[in-house]
Amino acid sequence: MKLPTFLVFFFLLAIHRVYTDTYSPYSPLSYVDRPCGTDLSNLWLDVVLVVDNSHGMTNEGLANVSSSILSIFGNGTRIGTNLTEHRTTRVGLITYNAEATQIADLNVLQSFFNLTNHVNSSLAEVSNSTWSFDKVGLKAAYDLLQNQSFPPNSRSHYQKVVILFASDSQAQNSEELDPYPMDYQLKDAGVKIVTVGYGNETLLERLSNISSPEYAFDGYDKGVTAKVQAALLKINCFCPPTWTQYTSSYSNSSSYHYGLCIQLMPTLTPWRTAQLNCSSYGNHSNIVTEYNKAKHDFLLEAVKNTPEFSPPYQYHIGLNLVNGTWTWDQPSNGSLPLLSWSNWILGFQEDTEATRVINIESENLKEGTTGWLNINDMKIKAGYICESYACDTDNYCLG
Ligand SMILES: *[C@@H]1O[C@H](CO)[C@@H](O)[C@H](O)[C@H]1NC(C)=O
Ligand SMILES: *[C@@H]1O[C@H](CO)[C@@H](O)[C@H](O)[C@H]1NC(C)=O
Ligand SMILES: *[C@@H]1O[C@H](CO)[C@@H](O)[C@H](O)[C@H]1NC(C)=O
Ligand SMILES: *[C@@H]1O[C@H](CO)[C@@H](O)[C@H](O)[C@H]1NC(C)=O
Ligand SMILES: *[C@@H]1O[C@H](CO)[C@@H](O)[C@H](O)[C@H]1NC(C)=O
Ligand SMILES: *[C@@H]1O[C@H](CO)[C@@H](O)[C@H](O)[C@H]1NC(C)=O
Ligand SMILES: *[C@@H]1O[C@H](CO)[C@@H](O)[C@H](O)[C@H]1NC(C)=O
Ligand SMILES: *[C@@H]1O[C@H](CO)[C@@H](O)[C@H](O)[C@H]1NC(C)=O
Ligand SMILES: *[C@@H]1O[C@H](CO)[C@@H](O)[C@H](O)[C@H]1NC(C)=O
Ligand SMILES: *[C@@H]1O[C@H](CO)[C@@H](O)[C@H](O)[C@H]1NC(C)=O
Ligand SMILES: *[C@@H]1O[C@H](CO)[C@@H](O)[C@H](O)[C@H]1NC(C)=O
Ligand SMILES: *[C@@H]1O[C@H](CO)[C@@H](O)[C@H](O)[C@H]1NC(C)=O
Repeated sequence: MKLPTFLVFFFLLAIHRVYTDTYSPYSPLSYVDRPCGTDLSNLWLDVVLVVDNSHGMTNEGLANVSSSILSIFGNGTRIGTNLTEHRTTRVGLITYNAEATQIADLNVLQSFFNLTNHVNSSLAEVSNSTWSFDKVGLKAAYDLLQNQSFPPNSRSHYQKVVILFASDSQAQNSEELDPYPMDYQLKDAGVKIVTVGYGNETLLERLSNISSPEYAFDGYDKGVTAKVQAALLKINCFCPPTWTQYTSSYSNSSSYHYGLCIQLMPTLTPWRTAQLNCSSYGNHSNIVTEYNKAKHDFLLEAVKNTPEFSPPYQYHIGLNLVNGTWTWDQPSNGSLPLLSWSNWILGFQEDTEATRVINIESENLKEGTTGWLNINDMKIKAGYICESYACDTDNYCLG
């Protein structure tokens, strides 16, 4: 049985509402490092959808693309722009074969309903073209972003994404049609590329070369909607320039991303001044915490890779003695008592004035490692590390 079209759309709109209020954001009292926000209703991106509508895509494939697009944005994502709510996603729509056609620029679609209509009408059937050149689609997306998303556009601080839905197209081995130069140009400009392939292994492999790392997906995979949504959430979770995102592995930028940014401050500073400087970066910033060994290792690695720090390595961390309890500094003058993991080294000072904590490379430790030592704020200056919430679906920022 086929439902009347208008009922399907009511259904989509109803779901769109329901999935918006079951989300609970990070609690700063949870003693874990902040994960990236995952609230699809608060996604804030500029996305250009680039859809191959050559013969190779087939009408069934195109129908699958349509429903994928509507599912991707169907969990309450606010489409368009809104003067009072910054966390909205603009969506542009381009179809391509041997040539590209701009269906909607980034300012046309102002609601999920608008997106639904445009997808329905422009992706209804494939074109007669048997050719499709990824380069042509990517170029059109690049031009659109240049015009409407890069500076001086007021949304130039929004992360930019191209989602390429591609089929098995004809050979494109002529130099003129090589997609890679265009691909590099997009990536160099900071645009993330997600690909969704409708074809065999050969196609998927080719697309994985075009996509940003780990963002190449198979259109016929049942989980593709959730995977693309996860990619968009990850892209939406980013750090402003000069800040470094905290990830599960310092050397692997594709490793798990936390919703936390760190800033290395090499200037020799007393602890209390460091604390004040860190908290002055905004409502969600503080001098860095080390809840576990993984965080400690990441921070030390970051310090070692910052030329202004030199051995023996030392830097202040956000631990200090408050009313007799070792306590982590938190955003907005908050605090959290030290729990489980600790990293004290021999040499713990009896000095009752030694109430602040430094991470220090000492004779008691293996070379190149650091441990915690309490210090007297009046006597010791060192570099330090600040941390701050990343920009993400729970935290809009100007970047
Ligand atoms: C998105 O909505 C679908 C139903 O349309 C639901 O199955 C899925 O769990 C939702 N995903 C998230 C991340 O909320
Ligand atoms: C803009 O966002 C506000 C706050 O979320 C909402 O009340 C209003 O309906 C939105 N306006 C439009 C045109 O979507
Ligand atoms: C978007 O939808 C509104 C009604 O919700 C309609 O008035 C407007 O014309 C639509 N815009 C486009 C570009 O389809
Ligand atoms: C969807 O497209 C079909 C044919 O292209 C059309 O008959 C139908 O009215 C459209 N539905 C909506 C809601 O625009
Ligand atoms: C494809 O070609 C056929 C026959 O020439 C024509 O009837 C049809 O409208 C064309 N379809 C498109 C999408 O251009
Ligand atoms: C970009 O803007 C220029 C000048 O306004 C216009 O001629 C061109 O068509 C635009 N291109 C796109 C892809 O929007
Ligand atoms: C994949 O599909 C293309 C185009 O349909 C075809 O030329 C190629 O031989 C196929 N490759 C494999 C490994 O099946
Ligand atoms: C992958 O990209 C490189 C350019 O970065 C290109 O030379 C190579 O041919 C591509 N490989 C495939 C399988 O398309
Ligand atoms: C696309 O096709 C695949 C395989 O037939 C199917 O598992 C998937 O659910 C389809 N996706 C959508 C959104 O219809
Ligand atoms: C980087 O991390 C990703 C995600 O955890 C993993 O899949 C990949 O293999 C890692 N790469 C290296 C070089 O370790
Ligand atoms: C923190 O200190 C650095 C120098 O160590 C300075 O450049 C920066 O402006 C200070 N930040 C704030 C927010 O005061
Ligand atoms: C420390 O203890 C005093 C007296 O019990 C109390 O007034 C003060 O609020 C405490 N300070 C903090 C930071 O807990």
